[in-house]
Amino acid sequence: MKKRKDTLALVLAGLIAASLSSTLHASEEPVQDMQTFPSYLDVGYDQKHRPQFHFTSRKNWLNDPNGMVYYDGEYHLFFQHNPKGNRWGNMTWAHAVSKDMVHWEQLSHAILPYGGGMIFSGTAAVDHNNTLGKQKGDTKTLLASFTKAVHKPDRYYQALAYSTDKGRSFELFNEGKAIVPNQGFDRSERDPKIFWHEASKKWVMILYVKRAVTEADKRGPIAPGKVRFFTSDNLADWEVASDFDRNWVFECMDFVHLPVDGDLNNKKWLLFDASFDYEIGEFDGTTFTTDKKVGLGDYGKNYYAAQTFNNSPDGRTVVIGWMRHSDFNKARMPFNQQMSFPTTMELRTTPDGVHLFRWPVKEIESLYTKKHEFSNRPIEKLTTELSQIDADLIDASIEFEPKKTGDIDWTLRGLKVGYDADKQVFIYNGARLAAPAVNGKVKLRVLVDRGSIELFANDGAAVATHFALPDPKNRKISVSGKGSGIVSMVINELKSSWPQK
Ligand code: FRU
Repeated sequence: MKKRKDTLALVLAGLIAASLSSTLHASEEPVQDMQTFPSYLDVGYDQKHRPQFHFTSRKNWLNDPNGMVYYDGEYHLFFQHNPKGNRWGNMTWAHAVSKDMVHWEQLSHAILPYGGGMIFSGTAAVDHNNTLGKQKGDTKTLLASFTKAVHKPDRYYQALAYSTDKGRSFELFNEGKAIVPNQGFDRSERDPKIFWHEASKKWVMILYVKRAVTEADKRGPIAPGKVRFFTSDNLADWEVASDFDRNWVFECMDFVHLPVDGDLNNKKWLLFDASFDYEIGEFDGTTFTTDKKVGLGDYGKNYYAAQTFNNSPDGRTVVIGWMRHSDFNKARMPFNQQMSFPTTMELRTTPDGVHLFRWPVKEIESLYTKKHEFSNRPIEKLTTELSQIDADLIDASIEFEPKKTGDIDWTLRGLKVGYDADKQVFIYNGARLAAPAVNGKVKLRVLVDRGSIELFANDGAAVATHFALPDPKNRKISVSGKGSGIVSMVINELKSSWPQK
């Protein structure tokens, strides 16, 4: 009797598993128990150390942003997620949506592991021309390209999923088999970026395939570090178009077309990797040509694997990074890790050539509550005035002439940002951010949340993103300096972006 019951239970479990798995993943793996999202709904957003205007998963671990795409009034943020714990593992694409990149709603997990491998990072795109042929009615298909991380043997490959219901559910294309097979670099090749290249009327994929590891390799005449460009007419068959060999490349490449100084007739391509090293150049649909490596998009200790929204609605290019090493486990939070605040990316001409500038999206203003403005104040006077402020979440800016003020310390909720007037750098927790005076003046904008401080120097010419846990009891702002100069400051207090109970 017991045996019969067991058999019946197994058959029933099998039927349930098969129905659950039919849309989300190939059926051979018992992964339906990773669709744990309903259990997240018991967790709110009001914990002492929960970021209030930075994205976190309601529960459990997150790392890279994935599949960032805008479609029909919604920004989609998929992300690397462990549905079963607050450390890395069981990599799954989790999902959140927003109308403004500031207020997010987390939805059920989008793509679960299947066939003995995890779902690693990748990108999404709107299939405007219905290349895949899956469109239902007027709703365009959303494409999600990702790395299928198969171990034993290490043979990562690139696969595709698609959604015909605005990202609410995904089907694996061709049962999740490779659209780009392993290129011979084992597990290093990963994180496909796909986009439609209008000029050549082709789909393009950019894939990091190999890293320069040893010093000898890095110094050698031929770069072993490699990014491979592919093109496709049908999204199913991809041809190698070119290799871009550089020793700086490593993981999570993104590639965007940006106007220089706002001029839509003068656009350049910018390629960057997980560490936000970047190079600027031209792209003809198959080959990326540049002069030299030009820059670093973030100088902080906690910015990694950033990605831009595909199909952005208003000509802006907006990027979000994973704030790597934001360890909330020690603070005993129900989630771990967080995303950076979204920033625009713009190319501007500087005396040093064309450079990337980043700036918090203006939608942050929807969170502003109180504004405190101090124009041209002697530092001693400002210190007294600032003592009236009691702030939890802050968006603040400072402007001064370092020749007159000398070194300055600006402390927000116990987080000290110093300016070294000789070296012309801001220093936070040992990390330097170059900010040479422009027309004699230096500017800094900072965002302070319960888990971070983000620094934007000189209108976004240099940015640094840091994990920080300000003491919940310390809500003060102060400024001090030895010199005699005057300082201007604007402080906006913010409310939470999460729904309040
Ligand atoms: C970057 C990364 C990616 C990979 C993912 C796995 O942080 O290592 O290369 O796809 O994380 O979670």
